[in-house]
Amino acid sequence: MCGIVGHVGLKNSVSNVVEGLKRLEYRGYDSAGVCFKSKKSELKLCKKSGKLQNLIDSLEEVDLENSHACIGHTRWATHGEVNDTNAHPHLAENIGIVHNGIIENATKLKSELKSEGMKFLSETDSEVFLGLVVRAFKTTKTLQEAVSIAFKQIEGNSAFLIMDKDREEIVAIKRGAPLVCGSQSHGSDIFTSSDPYALVGMADTIYFPEDEVICVLDIKTDPLIQFFELDGSYSKRFLMQEQEMNLELSEKGEFEHYMLKEIHEQPALIRSFAQYYSNLGGISFHSLTGIEPKLIHVVACGTAWHAGLVIKNFVEKFNKIPCNVEQASEFRYRNPLLLEGELGLFISQSGETADTLAAQELCTKSGLKTISVVNVEGSTLYRNCDENMLIRAGIEIGVASTKAFTQQVLTGYLYSSALLKKFEDGYYIKEFNLLADRIDSILNRSEEIEEIASEIYNKKGFIFTGRGSYFPIALEGALKLKEIAYVHAEGYAAGELKHGPIALIDEEMVNIAIVGKELYDKTVSNIQEVKARRGIIVTIGPEGDASLEEMSDYYIGLNYTDLGDLAPLYVNVVNQLLSYYMAKFKGTDIDKPRNLAKSVTVE
Ligand code: F6R
Repeated sequence: MCGIVGHVGLKNSVSNVVEGLKRLEYRGYDSAGVCFKSKKSELKLCKKSGKLQNLIDSLEEVDLENSHACIGHTRWATHGEVNDTNAHPHLAENIGIVHNGIIENATKLKSELKSEGMKFLSETDSEVFLGLVVRAFKTTKTLQEAVSIAFKQIEGNSAFLIMDKDREEIVAIKRGAPLVCGSQSHGSDIFTSSDPYALVGMADTIYFPEDEVICVLDIKTDPLIQFFELDGSYSKRFLMQEQEMNLELSEKGEFEHYMLKEIHEQPALIRSFAQYYSNLGGISFHSLTGIEPKLIHVVACGTAWHAGLVIKNFVEKFNKIPCNVEQASEFRYRNPLLLEGELGLFISQSGETADTLAAQELCTKSGLKTISVVNVEGSTLYRNCDENMLIRAGIEIGVASTKAFTQQVLTGYLYSSALLKKFEDGYYIKEFNLLADRIDSILNRSEEIEEIASEIYNKKGFIFTGRGSYFPIALEGALKLKEIAYVHAEGYAAGELKHGPIALIDEEMVNIAIVGKELYDKTVSNIQEVKARRGIIVTIGPEGDASLEEMSDYYIGLNYTDLGDLAPLYVNVVNQLLSYYMAKFKGTDIDKPRNLAKSVTVE
């Protein structure tokens, strides 16, 4: 989704902002632009639809070094089509703005401003906020005051950067949307962005302002970044953190795509994750939150929701605590029954997914304790939950989530064990290391999976099936495939096939059938049913199962019998590789699939 970056410094503001925007490309966007202050004390605007390179090319004539303040944006269209005019920043009366999010009362505000004679160039809701700032600035002494007045008039979740021609200053503010500021321990460059990753290697201290805190970045003040409440008084509502991320860790290295790199990172991550939590002596959330929950509402979106479905199996099996797993977009609007003694567990890689955040807020308002299973430390979800379990996946750049899913499930597994107070010395290390070894072994068989992918990638459609703990893996396999290969794929509980989807089966349909230890015979019967209708069978099943192999068109035998409850994660890596190679044969943009965004910060 949209990304924002701002810089104030003695020079090179545009280059710093463009560098930040490059880092945010992975989030998905359709146009990009910058607004900057040049020596002549006027604001310049440059924006282009399409790839960031279009913007970079158009900046060739600009004296980049002599820019002292700049705001930049990568847009993911919500209001108005993709074109240069609708791209951000927007500029009027020497005030420039960039915006992430949605202004829900934009239509009403726009007609009010129009009736006062204001003209709009774009179709965006963002320009409405610019209009409000322009109007307010006619009656206020400072830009900060004008922003405060304008911000109080808008509804919905948004983050803004605003600058004007007279000061080398950026004003930043947000409600329910990500925004950070950054400074250097040595140096006078100051930054702001929607994602701390944009600032890796540039800022070493990151500030996370809370909602409705006005951040003023100005290299002439001390401190360089100041925080205010909307009434103008100083604010302490921000969190400060050292930036630990290393730029090298976020590069593709020898891999052709980030997705492939991230799939390959999984064994090492699993090993270090086990070691990390073992060193901490496990996780003891029940004591931290002070309750043994009567019921857990597990709420998430997309891949994280699939992880929730796997975690439900652990918690219900080991802890005998009922779990209600729901998609956040449904949960937040259906008036869920939330009772005393229940717990909200929110799973999110980014910690910024709008629906998940709203669901968490709903639980908190209803008096429930909330825990996150989250990757980004300091994200909004992390800050809003009572307790957090970090999945420690490192930065995930590929839009299609892979390693985060694995780490989310493992974190849920530890959570379930923590509720049982079960953390014998070294036990998890052995179990997790075995899983890591098996994933290594399947990664070493990538060529075999690539070969299968080459034979099936152009078939009409794909149905992933599984039972029990493999059902969420079937759902995840189908999601991954449709996201990156742009083919129609469905995940089904194997036993459900005959209740409808079997009508789709013919010689052009592929059934990727996961056969686990549980309900083996029944799952094999489901495969027979597809076979009888001439469907193409790709089976992921136990190693050395000759009859199953015989029945299948393609067979991927796995040694998972001793992996117990973690076996679904092993199988899932096969699906990740299958999707990756099928997408590669189709020639799609694997790391940045069309229409998708890494972090879905709007509804
Ligand atoms: C799929 C994928 C998405 C995300 C979903 C939630 O590959 O990445 O389905 O899982 O948008 O995102 P987070 O986990 O950031 O809340």
